[in-house]
Amino acid sequence: MTYLRKEVIGRATLYLGDAREIVPTLGLVSDIMMDPPYEAIMHESKSGMKGLVRPDGSHHWKPLDFDPIDAIRDEVVSWGAQCEGWFIAFCTSEGVARWADAINASPMKYKRACVWIKPDSTPQMNGQGPAQGAEHFVCAWAGKGHARWNAGGKRGVYTHLVNGPERTGAHPTEKPRRLMSELVADFTQPGATILDPFMGSGTTGVAAVMAGRSFIGIDLNPTYFALACKRIEDAQRQYGLFEGVAA
Ligand SMILES: C[S@@+](CC[C@H](N)C(=O)[O-])C[C@H]1O[C@@H](n2cnc3c(N)ncnc32)[C@H](O)[C@@H]1O
Repeated sequence: MTYLRKEVIGRATLYLGDAREIVPTLGLVSDIMMDPPYEAIMHESKSGMKGLVRPDGSHHWKPLDFDPIDAIRDEVVSWGAQCEGWFIAFCTSEGVARWADAINASPMKYKRACVWIKPDSTPQMNGQGPAQGAEHFVCAWAGKGHARWNAGGKRGVYTHLVNGPERTGAHPTEKPRRLMSELVADFTQPGATILDPFMGSGTTGVAAVMAGRSFIGIDLNPTYFALACKRIEDAQRQYGLFEGVAA
C-alpha cells in the first residue's frame, strides 16, 4: 500500500503518506496547484524569526518539520505528465529561476512567475535590509493546445493578508484561503479535479470544495493531515451545496 490513510470527504480524497509514492498511482488530474516545501535557503532563514508572534498568537518561527524542495524538484516537475491543465507551484523569489529551468526541461510550457503581495508580512526586525514582502508562484501549462484560464488579461499579481481573519495558525506556512480561492477561480474550470500533493493544513482543498471543484490532497504529517480533513469537512458542510458562490 502506498499510503497510510485515505479519507474520502464528499468531493475530496485525502491521503496520509509520501506524495512521491502516491502521485504516480493517481492517474490524470485536471490541475496541480501546490505549495511545496521551500528552497533550503528559506528553511534556514526561518530560524531568524525566533520569538516573533503573529496577531493570532501563533509564532512566526516554528521549525519546519519537512525537507526542502531542492533534491526532489525534478521529480515533482515530472508529475506534470499526469496533468491536463495548469501546473502551479509556490516558491521563494530565489526559487523562481530553478523552477523555470526544471519546467523548461520538461514537456510543459512555462508561462511565468506570478506574485503574492503580503501587505502584513513580517518586518525586517534587525533593520539590516528590506523585509520579504512577497512570495511567488510559477505557472506552466501541462495540457494540450493553447493555455486557457478564466481571467482574460488580468495581471499575475495577487494581494492578500498573511494574517487574515480565516487564518488557523496551526500550520507554519499556511496560505490565505482567499488567495487560494482567487487562484482556483482564475485557473481552474467547473468539474475540475485539483491535486495538491503537499496540502499541509488543506487550504487549497478548502478553496477547491468551496468553488465546487473536486480535490485530491496528500501530506505525510499526521497532524497536518488531520487538520486538513477537519477544515475540508467543515468547508464542504458549509459550502458543498452551493457550487461556485464562495469568494
Ligand atoms: C509549505 S507546506 C503546505 C502548507 C499549505 N499550503 C497550507 O496552507 O497549510 C508543505 C507541506 O508539504 C508536506 N510534505 C513535505 N514533503 C512531503 C512529501 N514527500 N509528501 C507529502 N507531503 C509532504 C509537509 O508536511 C508540509 O505540510
